[in-house]
Amino acid sequence: MTDLAVLIMAAGKGTRMVSNRAKVLHALCGTPMLRLIYRAAAGLFPNEIMVVIGQDAELVRSSLDGLPARFVLQQEQLGTGHALMTAGPELAKRDGDLLVLSGDTPRLKTETLRNLVEHHRKTGAASTLLTAVAEDPFTYGRILRAADGGIEAIVEERDATPAQRQIKEINAGFYCFRIAPLLDALDGISNQNAQQEYYLTDLIAIQKRHGLHVEALLHEDFAELRGINTRAELAELAQAMRSRKNRELMAAGVTLIDPDRTYIDLDVVVEKDVIIHPMVTLQGNTRILEGSVLHPATRIVNSTIGPEAEVLDSCLITDSEVGKGTAVGPCARIRGHARIGERCRIGNFVEIKKSTLGDGTKAAHLAYLGDAVIGNKVNIGAGVITCNYDGAQKHTTIIEDEVFVGTDSQLIAPVRIGRGAYIAAGSCITEDVPAGSLGIARSRQTVKKGWTQRRKESRKSG
Ligand code: UD1
Ligand code: CA
Repeated sequence: MTDLAVLIMAAGKGTRMVSNRAKVLHALCGTPMLRLIYRAAAGLFPNEIMVVIGQDAELVRSSLDGLPARFVLQQEQLGTGHALMTAGPELAKRDGDLLVLSGDTPRLKTETLRNLVEHHRKTGAASTLLTAVAEDPFTYGRILRAADGGIEAIVEERDATPAQRQIKEINAGFYCFRIAPLLDALDGISNQNAQQEYYLTDLIAIQKRHGLHVEALLHEDFAELRGINTRAELAELAQAMRSRKNRELMAAGVTLIDPDRTYIDLDVVVEKDVIIHPMVTLQGNTRILEGSVLHPATRIVNSTIGPEAEVLDSCLITDSEVGKGTAVGPCARIRGHARIGERCRIGNFVEIKKSTLGDGTKAAHLAYLGDAVIGNKVNIGAGVITCNYDGAQKHTTIIEDEVFVGTDSQLIAPVRIGRGAYIAAGSCITEDVPAGSLGIARSRQTVKKGWTQRRKESRKSG
C-alpha cells in the first residue's frame, strides 16, 4: 500500500511473562513474536516498517535479522504514548498514514490490517482503531462510545470506573493514524493516570476534543487480536498455531500418526506422502521431502531429509542433509553441516559431524565420523572412530570409494584411505593406505598353550 508506514511497538519488557528476556523475543512454533507481527505488516507492502525497541534492544533487533526495518530506540519505557513520541522525529519526516501495532499480538492477519487501512482511508478519519468484543475484557482498554455510537475515548482497565469495567468492547491495540494530526495530538498526552504512563490511547479523546474524525472499527474475531501477556497464553496460542500448521500439512498429503503430539515449526516444509510418527519435532529451516518416514521421538533442525528417506526412532539431526532413500538411526546423531548421500545406511549410535558421505555408504553401528570426506559404497564397521582432533586442531580423514574399514578401527587424521582399500579390524591407522591395499595396524596375537592348566596348578601348590 502506498503512503503507508508501519510502527511496531516492541520496547516493553512484558512483566507478566516473568522472564529475563523481552516479551517479543518469545517464540511461537519457532518464530519470535515480533517476527510474526512483522510478517503480517510486511504483507501490506508498506513504504517502511519501523520498530520501537528498548528492553533487550540488540536481541530484539537481531530477531528480525535479514528483514528490512528502521529501529527507534526508546531508552526508558514510559508507555505506549511515549513510544510514539520517541518515534516523533522519524514520523515528522513523513506524511500519509501510519499503522501502529503492538509487538505482542502474533496471531494478527495481513487481511485485518488491510481492512483497517482501507476503512481509515474510505472514511477520511484522522485516526481509526480496531476494537473487538471480549467475553472477558479484563486488562484491556475499554471503548467508550457516545449516544450516536461514535467513539469518545479509551479508558484503561486500571483507570476505569466499575461501570466502565463492565464494557465488553475493547481496544485491540491496532491503529491507523494520519501522520500530521497524530503529531499535533502527541503533545497533549500526559502521564496523569493510574500507571503514570503516557498512554497512546489518550490520543483518541484528544483528537475528539479537537473536533477530528475518529473511527472505531469492530473486528469480529477477538481471538486473532489477543495479546500475549503470560506464558500460559503463549502456550495456548502456540498450540493453536501448531494444530493449524499440522492440519495444513495433512491437507497437503502428509500423514501425522498423532497430530497432537507432533511439533512442527511454522516455516518447516513437509512434502506429500511423508509419514510422521508421534513425538517428532521439526524445527527451523527444515525440509522433509516426498515419501520419507520419520519414526517416533526424533528431532530435526535446519536440515533436509529425503526423498524416500527413513529416520528411525530417537535421532537428532541438525544443520545437515540426508539423501534419497537413506536410512538413519535409531539413536543416531548427525550435525555440523554433514551431507549424507543416497541409499546410505546410518545405524544405531552413529555420530556424524561435518562430514560428507557418498552414495550407498554404510556405517551401521556405533561409529564417530567427524571432519571426514567419505566416498561411495564405503563400509564403516562397528566402533570405527575418526580421530579428528589433536587437542588443538581438527583434521580431515579421507576415505575413498569402496573402502572397507574393519570394526573398532581408529583413523588418526589427517589420513587418507585409497579407493577399494581394506582396513583390518582393530587397526589404529596413522598413515595413508594406498588404493587397493590392506592396512593392518594392531599388535600380533600370541597364544600360550596349556596356560589355564598351569595357572590352576601353581595356585594349588602356592
Ligand atoms: C495496550 C493498550 C490497551 C489495549 C491493549 C491491547 C495502552 C495505554 N493501552 O495495553 O488499551 O487494550 O494494548 O493489547 O496503549 N511498549 C513500548 N514502549 C512502552 C510501552 C509499551 O514499546 O513504553 C510496547 C510493548 O512492548 C507492547 C506494546 O507496546 O508490545 C503494548 O504495550 P503493553 O504494555 O502490552 O500495553 P497493554 O497494557 O497491553
Ligand atoms: Ca499487551
